[in-house]
Amino acid sequence: MKIKNVELETVCGITSVLPDNELPEIAFAGKSNVGKSSLINALMNRKALARTSQKPGKTQTINFYNINQELYLVDLPGYGYAKVAEAEKRKWGQLIERYLHGSKQLKALFLLIDIRHEPGTNDKVMYNFIVEMGYKPIIIATKLDKLKRSQVAKHLKQIKVGLDLLPETILIPFSATSKQGREEIWDFVDKHVLG
Ligand code: GTP
Ligand code: MG
Repeated sequence: MKIKNVELETVCGITSVLPDNELPEIAFAGKSNVGKSSLINALMNRKALARTSQKPGKTQTINFYNINQELYLVDLPGYGYAKVAEAEKRKWGQLIERYLHGSKQLKALFLLIDIRHEPGTNDKVMYNFIVEMGYKPIIIATKLDKLKRSQVAKHLKQIKVGLDLLPETILIPFSATSKQGREEIWDFVDKHVLG
């Protein structure tokens, strides 16, 4: 994918009407702070168009980035952010669910897991939820640069076992710092979404 122009086109909060887009959408889900917005910046070749933070809970809306008038990258709020009140968490959960159930154009759903950590209960719930909805999630193991090369295989295995991944589920190691995995993600999109 050659990035020609990118634009943050739509921002949706918990009370927003979600857009009825015509172009295909690709969404990124995962725990707060796992690196969703950073991954989207890397895919767009932008440093900071999607706002990122060291503190979890940065993205609190669903943000639609229009890429080349060809497709949307959809940045979802993170789940499992401990410091948010239960009521607030439920509202974000409902917003994410409303989007996942309601979008007519969602063509691929990426679930991000921090490569350093064993998947948590929320991650398992999300993976199973996505599969049950009929999507074939692609797992991105984020923050690859934080591991020594010798540790990578063990940690990928930990994600496979921890989420009890289906044999056909694709797992892509990725680093927003080194950009490793970026081409693989775009290749997947070119082949399965735009192809
Ligand atoms: P929420 O919006 O809160 O759900 O978080 P998010 O999933 O969008 O995470 P975000 O992209 O804001 O990244 C969280 C923190 O992790 C930031 O400090 C990023 O710089 C850092 N980070 C993200 N990806 C990587 C990576 O691949 N390598 C390293 N070293 N740091 C990363
Ligand atoms: Mg974010």
